[in-house]
Amino acid sequence: MRSRAAILRTYGEPWSVEEFELDPPRAGEVLVRMAAAGLCHSDEHIRQGHLAPPDQEAPGAPTIGGHEGSAVVVEVGEGVTGLSPGDHVVTSFVAVCGQCRWCSSGMEYICDAGAATMLPGMPTDGTFRHHGCDGRDLAHVSKIGAFAEHTVVSAASLVKIGPHLPLVPAALLACAVPTGYGSAAYRAGVRGGDTVVVIGVGGIGTAAVQGARINGAARIIAVDPVAFKRDSARTFGATHTASSSAQAIEMVRDLTRGVMADAVVLSPAVVTDTDVEDALRLTRKAGTCVLTGMAAQGTRTGLDPQDMMLMNKTLCGTVFGSCNPRTDIPLLATLYEAGRLQLAEMVTKRYRLDDVNQAYEDLAAGELIRGVIDFDL
Ligand SMILES: NC(=O)c1ccc[n+]([C@@H]2O[C@H](COP(=O)([O-])OP(=O)(O)OC[C@H]3O[C@@H](n4cnc5c(N)ncnc54)[C@H](O)[C@@H]3O)[C@@H](O)[C@H]2O)c1
Ligand SMILES: [Zn+2]
Ligand SMILES: [Zn+2]
Repeated sequence: MRSRAAILRTYGEPWSVEEFELDPPRAGEVLVRMAAAGLCHSDEHIRQGHLAPPDQEAPGAPTIGGHEGSAVVVEVGEGVTGLSPGDHVVTSFVAVCGQCRWCSSGMEYICDAGAATMLPGMPTDGTFRHHGCDGRDLAHVSKIGAFAEHTVVSAASLVKIGPHLPLVPAALLACAVPTGYGSAAYRAGVRGGDTVVVIGVGGIGTAAVQGARINGAARIIAVDPVAFKRDSARTFGATHTASSSAQAIEMVRDLTRGVMADAVVLSPAVVTDTDVEDALRLTRKAGTCVLTGMAAQGTRTGLDPQDMMLMNKTLCGTVFGSCNPRTDIPLLATLYEAGRLQLAEMVTKRYRLDDVNQAYEDLAAGELIRGVIDFDL
């Protein structure tokens, strides 16, 4: 069948919205009609080549963008169980095989099948279902390709949700919300009474603020250079705001009488070498600092090993907020239904697929918490 998608051929070029040819789903695969796709900063990193080796000008294959989506199942391939046409689903940017060592020990977010997420081809058999009009095979970001009206994905990349959940806000359950919520709740283990700093309160950081609030943090300090983001963070639970980490260090020192923060989530648009050092300065002894934001490939950071050791600090990374898609996406949907998780409020603006480049310009201008492509517009 023919469909339309935002495609990247050369790093740094705008997304090109074009028709493409889509094959039917094969064994273990599912054809979906996208309902909504969130404009995560990771797709902007991919467009700019931040994840590519230095001097590489183009991705290995032209690539359909987008990994944060909600969709309706159209057709299931042979052997797919638990999904039927008409079901509502959320995409998981980590495919979950359910079999590997990591899946079977409660760490679906580092599934071996999901680890090859940036390599082209289907996770099922490595071949391609998406083809450009020039005949070239198309890769699809995170094996999803959410910036497409239709896509074919592995059943391992989908999580079923209730049909009553509104599909536009539900798209945020695919990346921003679990990544941010889990960074605070799971990776940092935020508990009642904690002081939590979130550095960078865009889509991911706003969800981290909510993860801290829902899990009982007493003080939540949101750090962002953009005034709109700081004001917005207060509406999601931030109790204090700062425009830079340097300002936050003074503020947290005062608030905690020198103890500093129990947990720090580092979720700016791009993590630089000095960001990590600042985040560790904000972290109390025996506290946890979580690296959630992406750094450009090749970024190195200067750590103070003595401070890490003597202060018994934990510095850790996280994929997907260390959430298990199959349990945590439904859990977060329940928090939303119970009125605890503000989901619709995170969607600042809806766009047509053709306006994807305008949407990313608006993100760069600091105007969005989350922009979403609404395929019904
Ligand atoms: N770990 C994961 O699994 C995972 C998943 C998704 C996204 N990410 C990454 O998380 C990061 C955030 O993504 P997003 O979609 O929320 O981006 P975003 O653009 O919505 O938000 C980033 C925010 O950081 C702010 N910012 C920029 N420089 C800053 C600084 N020096 N100090 C404080 N704030 C600063 C911006 O004003 C913006 O509000 C990106 O690097 C993205 O690639 C990681
Ligand atoms: Zn994302
Ligand atoms: Zn697995």
